[in-house]
Amino acid sequence: MTDTVLDENAVAQAWDENAERWTQDVRAGFDLYRDLYTFPAFLDFIPPLNDREVIDLGCGEGTNTRHFARLGGRMTGIDLSGKMIAHARSQEAEEPLGITYGIGSFTDLSAYSDGCFDVALSTMALMDGPDLPAALRSVYRVLKPGGILCFSVLHPCFVTPAIQWLVDQEGTHLGLRVGRYFDDAPFVEHWRFSKRPDPEQVPKFTVPRFPRMLSDYINSVSDTGFQSIRTAEPRPDENVSAAHLWLKRWRDHVPLVLFVSAIKPR
Ligand SMILES: C[S@@+](CC[C@H](N)C(=O)[O-])C[C@H]1O[C@@H](n2cnc3c(N)ncnc32)[C@H](O)[C@@H]1O
Repeated sequence: MTDTVLDENAVAQAWDENAERWTQDVRAGFDLYRDLYTFPAFLDFIPPLNDREVIDLGCGEGTNTRHFARLGGRMTGIDLSGKMIAHARSQEAEEPLGITYGIGSFTDLSAYSDGCFDVALSTMALMDGPDLPAALRSVYRVLKPGGILCFSVLHPCFVTPAIQWLVDQEGTHLGLRVGRYFDDAPFVEHWRFSKRPDPEQVPKFTVPRFPRMLSDYINSVSDTGFQSIRTAEPRPDENVSAAHLWLKRWRDHVPLVLFVSAIKPR
């Protein structure tokens, strides 16, 4: 994807290319950061979903959307990638949970009427789109007054374009060196689920990234008109990181993810 303009078309194309491997790996339980750390923490962060109209923004192949549906949310999932949505829909056909999926951008929710959702959720997707203010404006419109937005992103302060773990001779992590925090140039990252079996045997995902500062996230949410903004910077659970030592650095030193919630005023 070098020399490609990183617009929404490029994002859609990249995630279409990632979709098959991503779906297989997530459903096989190879995304251990999600399963052991970030998603349990996100579930603690969100409001009750029972009987609520809920939209999942950038839902991917729908693993988290299905979880929200099992918690009682009446779910709509949207994603830019047609292939991700095809995987989500075929799972819905196999195991119906009443989820409606749509292909589209969270920057253009014109398919949905004003104030039709109680809750908008998004896990690890808003950092993958180029226009955060546009996304927040469209989410604001489709939320009811009093509706709640909750999203997770890679922590903008600690997952910058240049980071390096500092490790002593015994292999103990001492801290994280962070560089280029102010560099907001979009770039393409290549990675795989590092905890999957035989990671070297599978091609890496291609993920366009749009780095932002913490203030960009918070001020954009506030400028859109949302109120009661709260954040969380979860750590892996103590017992879980004792059982999975590779998680311990994210408990001892810095959070991998940032959660933000905010309310549309009544
Ligand atoms: C890292 S994946 C996360 C998927 C899912 N939320 C999860 O946690 O498994 C990021 C997803 O965001 C989607 N995405 C990126 N930009 C988007 C946009 N502008 N509108 C809707 N989806 C978008 C991608 O297609 C991809 O499926």
